This record gives sequence, C-alpha cells and structure tokens, in this order.
Amino acid sequence: MRRPGLRPLRRKSLARLTFRISAPILAGALLALPGGAGAQELRSYTVVGDAIPHSLTGAPGHAGRGRALVVERSSTCILCHSGPFPEQKFQGDLAPDLTGSGSRASAGQLRLRLVDASRLNAATIMPSYYRVDGLNRVGTPWRGKPILSAEQIEDIVAYLVSLRE
Ligand code: HEC
Repeated sequence: MRRPGLRPLRRKSLARLTFRISAPILAGALLALPGGAGAQELRSYTVVGDAIPHSLTGAPGHAGRGRALVVERSSTCILCHSGPFPEQKFQGDLAPDLTGSGSRASAGQLRLRLVDASRLNAATIMPSYYRVDGLNRVGTPWRGKPILSAEQIEDIVAYLVSLRE
C-alpha cells in the first residue's frame, strides 16, 4: 500500500545528511583546490578613511553565498559572532551580534573590517581575512595566502549589507 507521508520525510532527512557530510568536505576542498583562495594573487585595494570603497573584484558579491559562508563553521565568524541564523544552535558571544550590520556600517566599512580588522582596532581578536603581510604565527599551509578569496569577501559584504534593522 502507498503511504503518502513517507517519501517527503525520507527525502528531507537525506538532504540533511548530505549537508552534514558535504559541509566539512566542502571546507576541505576550498583549502585544497588550486583555484581556491590559496592560489590567487592578492588584489590591491585602496583604504579611504575607515573603508575600502570599491569591490575587491570590481563586481558586486552574491548575498546568498555570503550568508552560507558566514553560517559555515569553517569561515569561523560564528565562533565569535551571533546573528540571524536560527539554524545554527551554537553561536559565539565574543563579538557584536551581526544583526543589523548593514544599518550600522557601509559596504566599504564592512569590506575593510573583513579584509583587515586590525587596521580599525590594532588589538582586535578578529582575523584579517584578506591580508598576508605582518601576520604572526601563521601555520605553514596558510602562509602567504589570505583566509578568504576576494570573491568570498565580496559575497560576505553583500550579505552583511542586506542585514538591516
Ligand atoms: C576571533 C573572533 C572573531 C571572528 C572569528 C570574527 N570576528 Fe568579527 N568581530 C570580532 C570582534 C571582537 C569585533 C568587535 C570590534 C573589534 O574588536 O574589532 C568584530 C566586529 C565585526 C563587525 C563589526 C560589528 C559591529 O557592529 O561593530 C563585523 C561586521 C564583523 N565583525 C563581521 C565578521 C565576519 C563576517 C566574520 C567571518 C568572516 C567575523 N567577523 C569573524 C571578532 C571576530
């Protein structure tokens, strides 16, 4: 006999399982891929005041991809920050809640914060996600490589800008 309730239920849990497996694999792949953040040349950027006014890639980022990056544990944001991520049970409390980031700062200010937060606060614990010079204690696999690619920075900027209060 056909049980209409069964199929969607199975599909849902399968999807959840695939996500659980693919998230760490994806994170590993991002680090290992030659086309990932690692192999790319750092693009130059200009800091104006407390901001980097222009996109690192010359193009706007994708807010949906940015959200996925922020929520993913490998980007480490939510080790320190909380935010509007109901699906994440464990969120950090070492840093301001990211809710409303787009109302508090411009895209350029958010970009500099991600690229090199230490320029804004020399004592910050927030990592410089797009900087390779002047860093201490960088593990060998990461030497000379930014933590995130220029595209990933732009995706996260696009997402943070969309967080309005
Ligand atoms: C190790 C902890 C840590 C991590 C990881 C971290 N941050 Fe932060 N972040 C901070 C702290 C602390 C501040 C507060 C200002 C300061 O100390 O620089 C901050 C400030 C910010 C701000 C400004 C918030 C405001 O309202 O003033 C934004 C936006 C932000 N972080 C985004 C991110 C994103 C996106 C990521 C991941 C790509 C991230 N942070 C990763 C610690 C962290």
